[in-house]
Amino acid sequence: MDKENELLAISKLVFELTMSGDFSADLDVLLDRLFGILGKYYDLPLEPRGAILLLNPRGKYFQVAQSGMEPSWKSGFQWEAGIFADASISETCRIEDMRIPSASGSASEKSMARLILLPLRIEGQGIGYTALVTPPGYQPDPAQLDFLTDLAHALSGLVNRTLTLETLRVRELELEEARANSIRTLGAAAEYRDSVTGWHIMRMTNIAQAIAKALGLPEPVRELLYIAAPMHDVGKIGIADAILLKPAKLSAEEFEVMKTHTTIGVNILTGNDPLLAAAREIAGSHHERWDGKGYPQGLKGELIPILARVCSVADVFDALTSTRPYKKPWTVEEAAAWIAAQSGKHFDPAVVDAFNRSMPEILRIQALYCDDIIDPKQAVTLPPVERGKEDWVSWNDSLSVGIGTIDEHHRYLFDLINDLFDVVIKKRGSRNVARLIKALDAYAKVHFRAEEMMMARYGFEGIKCQEQQHHAFEEKVQDFYQELHTNPLVAQFDILLYLRSWLVNHIQTEDAKLRSLVSTCVA
Ligand SMILES: [Fe+2]
Ligand SMILES: [Fe+2]
Ligand SMILES: [Fe+2]
Repeated sequence: MDKENELLAISKLVFELTMSGDFSADLDVLLDRLFGILGKYYDLPLEPRGAILLLNPRGKYFQVAQSGMEPSWKSGFQWEAGIFADASISETCRIEDMRIPSASGSASEKSMARLILLPLRIEGQGIGYTALVTPPGYQPDPAQLDFLTDLAHALSGLVNRTLTLETLRVRELELEEARANSIRTLGAAAEYRDSVTGWHIMRMTNIAQAIAKALGLPEPVRELLYIAAPMHDVGKIGIADAILLKPAKLSAEEFEVMKTHTTIGVNILTGNDPLLAAAREIAGSHHERWDGKGYPQGLKGELIPILARVCSVADVFDALTSTRPYKKPWTVEEAAAWIAAQSGKHFDPAVVDAFNRSMPEILRIQALYCDDIIDPKQAVTLPPVERGKEDWVSWNDSLSVGIGTIDEHHRYLFDLINDLFDVVIKKRGSRNVARLIKALDAYAKVHFRAEEMMMARYGFEGIKCQEQQHHAFEEKVQDFYQELHTNPLVAQFDILLYLRSWLVNHIQTEDAKLRSLVSTCVA
């Protein structure tokens, strides 16, 4: 091939790789297409398998995409021999003989292969290689080498495009979060004045989520609900202290004023986007009743927005089962019975049904976001929650520290890591990865503070060491979150590995010592 034909061939190739219109950020698809095209048109003795390997900031290569090969999370294969021991990416195409997992054999079987390594570079900076497999002894001739060099440039451009797209998705999520946070802060301020502190908002939001799932509401709607539900009482910010904080029953007149927190909320939450619209519906209608006897509008039945109907059950249930200055908590049974009795009166019967079906999850939410200091001696027996997913890090009884609530927290952290794994291997995008890392970080903080409060209350000696380790973990997760902005494809694998090994190790070596509290503490 002369130079001109070769360039033509390359531009045709790139065109074919990107033209299908659905340029997905999916590098596996890109590699599949590449092999499809190379096999048909070009005179290269390539095996139909290869991988894209990107560097992390610590000089380790991660296999982020592959075609005709097992993903490395499945095969366990690490790219660290030979050229992969070196973090400086070569300027030119390289040939490297190394042992890699066999084409057809089991994951553990490896054989010698000759790899052509095409350097991936963005703005002069090396970020990794595309590895193509050739028969042993193959040596490209000068024309083929020129073709491969141009192919390396083209692939660099395509990988860069994917990275940019994924990074944008992380930023998009951040913008949304920043906006939601500013509104949430208002919600928190309102709750704070109301002296309804603790985890009421988190419990109510998670319970509403569980109900929405049981109702079969679609995921995008549930996502809106999750962000909007915490703002349901934002209008309380406009209610005078004398009424909002009154320790006794409100007079009829005062109650009329109190009711206006719904319309005040609607007025605060102005805006056209779906998030604010959902927040407005919930704030405006969470005190409406199915039978039309609620406020502020006396809406009836399905005229009440569905998210408001869901939030109303979640809010009432959590209020009933919580301690308030003026009342003792009801038991779960008492509260559930009252809600059942109000089906078709106060509440939408379909929502009450969904609420009953989600009881295992609701009980778990109460253990995960418990306002009281954890009692090491209290036994916790929760009905199992169905997950229907394969676990990447699985719980076993050797991980139990003998304190029911703590074990439940740890199990939930395992669930979140497994959810993250699921999102990564199903390639559901950096946006979902970022969302889950945030959720994990947020819940780890809840758990750490609960654990530390228990240690302080029962005089646990190792508390300093625990606090340090918890803190180091939080910082590390923050660092990874930052890496997600620069190289989401690599950071997601890095963080998964870190989370699994940190959590298992911390539970087995540090949290295991908490067991001593069960026998020594005086509750
Ligand atoms: Fe309210
Ligand atoms: Fe801990
Ligand atoms: Fe822990």
